[in-house]
Amino acid sequence: MTDQFPSSGNITWHHATVTQARREALNGHRGAILWLTGYSGAGKSTLAHAVEAHLHQCGYRTFVLDGDNVRHGLCSDLGFTPEDRVENIRRVGEVAKLFMEAGIIVLTAFISPFRAERERARSLVEQGDFIEIYCDCPIKICEWRDVKGLYKKARAGQIIEFTGISSPYEAPENPELIVNTGTTDLATCVQQVISEIKQRGIIERV
Ligand code: ADX
Repeated sequence: MTDQFPSSGNITWHHATVTQARREALNGHRGAILWLTGYSGAGKSTLAHAVEAHLHQCGYRTFVLDGDNVRHGLCSDLGFTPEDRVENIRRVGEVAKLFMEAGIIVLTAFISPFRAERERARSLVEQGDFIEIYCDCPIKICEWRDVKGLYKKARAGQIIEFTGISSPYEAPENPELIVNTGTTDLATCVQQVISEIKQRGIIERV
């Protein structure tokens, strides 16, 4: 899709000779974006990596884009103001699209708190290529787990604009899949994702 205009002029789109379809044929499966969203500590990264491990084992080409990791490199200049989160998710959406065009099943694990930004990421690719997975874990459980100790700091006022405490999270209204990562064990969550993407024709063998 080339319908977005670059802010600088004199830029033309170069069409690849090796297309997404040819890459997918080589890989033996489609590319897709599995977009996980939910609070910090909801289990997005854990689920993304567990699904990836399963898919990899079955011979699928995969990659996980993880919030904490991406913020060490590509997005190391960004913080957690609403504007920076918008830019974070804009970049991640574009990178996920590139991975998908490479024929890879890319899993993204970002809070991605704003509906509009998730919809924008979705709009970058064809319908059916973007699977929104809501890791539905109540904030109380995330806070109780507090794996990184960040909720405690946020409550103490040491972190400003913390999602769910002092910054909003807009839950998906119509995600392709809701996984109750607060109450369901990991293996079951993985199976739910695998059967969803199988049913949607993204993968065949499991
Ligand atoms: S997003 O809102 O822009 O999508 P992202 O997923 O990249 O966030 O990063 C979230 C991770 O950054 C959290 O899991 C947590 O470890 C850390 N973090 C640090 N500060 C904050 C904050 N103010 N709000 C939420 N997460 C934060």
